[in-house]
Amino acid sequence: MAEHEIRDTSDLIPLQPDRNIALELVRATEAAAIRSVPFIGRGQKELADGAAVDAMRAFLATVEFDGRVVIGEGEKDRAPMLFNGESVGTGRGRAYDIAVDPIDGTSLTAAGRNNALSVIAMAPRGAMLDASSVFYMDKIVTGPAGHGVVDIRKPIGENIRALAAALGKPVEEMVVSVLDRPRHEQLIADIRETGAGTRLMSDGDVAGGINAARHDARTDMCVGIGGSPEGIVTACAIKALGGFIQGRLAPLDDDERQRAIDAGLDVDAVLSADELVTSDDTIFVATGVTDGALVEGVHRRGGYLFTESVVLRGHSGTLRRISSEHLESKWL
Ligand code: FBP
Repeated sequence: MAEHEIRDTSDLIPLQPDRNIALELVRATEAAAIRSVPFIGRGQKELADGAAVDAMRAFLATVEFDGRVVIGEGEKDRAPMLFNGESVGTGRGRAYDIAVDPIDGTSLTAAGRNNALSVIAMAPRGAMLDASSVFYMDKIVTGPAGHGVVDIRKPIGENIRALAAALGKPVEEMVVSVLDRPRHEQLIADIRETGAGTRLMSDGDVAGGINAARHDARTDMCVGIGGSPEGIVTACAIKALGGFIQGRLAPLDDDERQRAIDAGLDVDAVLSADELVTSDDTIFVATGVTDGALVEGVHRRGGYLFTESVVLRGHSGTLRRISSEHLESKWL
């Protein structure tokens, strides 16, 4: 296109604006984050999670949609609220599947460590892969540069070198985040062997994945085995960022492998973003519980509670940051 030629943009999304339900959902993650504040650093992760669940559920009930929890707090008989299969929302309006993680990083919260988030992800009914029979998933997440460049089947060294070349930077400047777990000992050694650096996460690979996919990211890639639900939730966000994600189920043993096969899952398949979530109309909302690279945690100052959230939407490819001030006396 010539330098000053004006492009016809009439077919682009912003000219057909529609309701962004994510802007209503952010109240639910804000509420969950705020209600977990009294439990930050108090060593009781169940209490923190319980308070966050109650708050999130109360706010979800006000949002006009027909929601069904597909990734929640567990099975109905064990989780009193936000259990898998529970209906949420007013029941009127569009039908969505919803994944809730009132606190991703309950141990971080209880310990008072960084990087705990309150998270909601949504996609149209039936769009999220049901991977509930397998607890863990191997994942690789990068920004847009990873498309056609990295592949979870390749050795990590090859992926790091290929992504470094695509990003036009030396391998020594590459930073790869990984959950700090004994199962990743070899992976961590292999990353360092290339000359790249690691950012070891004690928990919270949803934030780790999103951070790796952001254009101003301080990490270039997030790899390794974390929760399967977190993989689906991350995919909802990655779609809005134009980033790259692949997952592969990682059954713990033969029994779990068989349960996955019985549930109709291909345990060895490499799952693309579109297989993890079959729609591009995804929503991802997160509020910081404790400080992290993605968002700040809840801060208390001068009678106010300050929250920071991100609201991502696959349909429009937007990431909004929402900073809110809440009068503390109304909340705690
Ligand atoms: P919870 O908040 O449910 O404890 O999850 C935290 C988390 O670190 C996830 O972000 C991650 O996917 C998963 O746990 C990893 O599992 P594990 O701690 O068993 O390695």
